[in-house]
Amino acid sequence: MRESSNAPGYPLTVGTPALRASIRDWAIRRLGAKGEFDLLPLIGSKELVAWLPTLLQSKRVLFPEVAYPTYSVGAILASAVGTPVPIDPSAWPDADLAWINSPSNPTGRVHSIDELEAVIAWGRAKNSVIASDECYLDFGHGIKPTSILMYTNGENKNILAVHSLSKRSSMAGYRAGFIVGDPNLIARLREIRKHAGMIVPLPIQNAMAAALADELHVAKQRQIYNARRERLKPALERVGFRIEETRAGLYIWCTRDEEDWDSVAWLAELGILVTPGHFYGVKGARNIRIALTATDSHIDEAISRLNATSRVKK
Ligand SMILES: Cc1ncc(COP(=O)(O)O)c(C=O)c1O
Repeated sequence: MRESSNAPGYPLTVGTPALRASIRDWAIRRLGAKGEFDLLPLIGSKELVAWLPTLLQSKRVLFPEVAYPTYSVGAILASAVGTPVPIDPSAWPDADLAWINSPSNPTGRVHSIDELEAVIAWGRAKNSVIASDECYLDFGHGIKPTSILMYTNGENKNILAVHSLSKRSSMAGYRAGFIVGDPNLIARLREIRKHAGMIVPLPIQNAMAAALADELHVAKQRQIYNARRERLKPALERVGFRIEETRAGLYIWCTRDEEDWDSVAWLAELGILVTPGHFYGVKGARNIRIALTATDSHIDEAISRLNATSRVKK
């Protein structure tokens, strides 16, 4: 990024040839992308999540019933009807855009191959776009989460996989993401985004290419998050929390079978800040989300405070 900071010209919306080649290689190597596909850099993935329904003029948008709130925000911005849905698509209502998120924020749940294939089949039957938000793909814990692109058999019509370097390479401050998938859909998005000025700055494009060419830092960071999860888990269980799903991602999703605010308040008294589950949908109202992005020393401090408390809930 430093070497390309002198960037007086407009950057390319499609991405530099070097960035395009590195996303392409990574998509084949890591995502298992096959057949015809295209790609497009994003200014972080949140802008795409928020604006995709508007750019596609979607009318009915589905998203997971416990989910990152921006899927719903995107439906609202597009004046579309947003509907929270369970994992299994068999009873999903008709829609022109469906979001899935595996590994999930906040739950850490990972879709099985059967579940991914069921969503692909649903999208094909309904002629609906499937946007698969895979920004936590590299953070499995004893499991290697896989991309939807592995199961399309190279038939990528209406499929978009959404990725971000915010999590994979701890580059949230850079605003760097990308999509990979249906070439026709991406051509439409590229055209609008070009005219709307949704362009990734050149120094960031070059930093993205460098980050994608390296897997070592990702493996190291994965180990750090997973070690934090291992250490926090018993301390949370000792004070009565039940940990659900959490097989991947940057969070622990847990419950003490009480209102989320009661858990938040109890932990706040110990000086531990967590997120109430209802931020992620009404189904999360008895859960909390604990971020593993705190430093090791803060995680250790939280563990010792939990272990020191006598107020253990039975
Ligand atoms: C599920 C999910 N998708 C997308 C994003 C957006 O990330 P970014 O805009 O940094 O790429 C986040 C950030 O927390 C997220 O949790």
